[in-house]
Amino acid sequence: MLDLKKYDVYMKEIIRQIPDVVNKYSDLNVDTKSDSRDLVTVVDKAVEEFITTSILSKFPNHEILGEESYDENKTYKKDNLWVIDPIDGTVNFVKQGEGYGSIISFFKDGKPALAYIYDIQNDILCHSMAGGGVFINDEKVKPLPKLKLEDVLVSMDVRRVFLKREEFFKKLVSESFGIRAHGSCAIDGLKLVSGKIGAYINQHSGPWDFSAFMLISNELNIKFTKYDLSELSLDEYSGFILANSSVYDDIIKLL
Ligand code: IPD
Ligand code: CA
Ligand code: CA
Repeated sequence: MLDLKKYDVYMKEIIRQIPDVVNKYSDLNVDTKSDSRDLVTVVDKAVEEFITTSILSKFPNHEILGEESYDENKTYKKDNLWVIDPIDGTVNFVKQGEGYGSIISFFKDGKPALAYIYDIQNDILCHSMAGGGVFINDEKVKPLPKLKLEDVLVSMDVRRVFLKREEFFKKLVSESFGIRAHGSCAIDGLKLVSGKIGAYINQHSGPWDFSAFMLISNELNIKFTKYDLSELSLDEYSGFILANSSVYDDIIKLL
């Protein structure tokens, strides 16, 4: 516990410096990764480098699983492991200059222990320590109200969910109060925790996209599973349903 507190204080210091790293670059030097819609910029790489160097300079034995340095052939031990998505919502960052964040989680003995979701532009930090609840800018988040799917906005990765799960997509559109698409797991996670949306549906994510939800869903009445209702693992890419518990129960009936 003492170690976790120490890591938490240090990580918050690191996170508050992320805007300075982002603001250093006027030329984003945009490149593509797996396909033409999968963008990466010099800022994604610089923020990951900054967080990684900061962690390893203080805790040299810790392990890093970062999106931009991810090695598919490596076995990550998941003990004293930091999972980093340096800029989540890179397409928003490039196309709109807004709606992006950082996601960082820490795993001890294979279990999620610390989680951070940071809205970089608006300086809003959601954090959680195992057993301690969820906080937004140091204010403890109250349990989410019991709501039905018809009461809430649902956010999703519209393009992928529509193309891969058209029937499910149509049911969500007709049964929910309305659909939104924010284009960032970080921003959607913050909106869910603060009760602005009731669910976030994602069709394809890496461990850096969803790592924080593994802890936050334990700490608040939020359910977080794959489409087959099983748990997510850091070892794989996956789609997922992240929702207020009562809304989740309505959503899975549509699958
Ligand atoms: C992506 C965003 C996007 C989500 C994808 C993620 P990136 O992360 O969060 O909203 O639909 O699944 O991969 O590439 O901007 O870090
Ligand atoms: Ca991401
Ligand atoms: Ca990213």
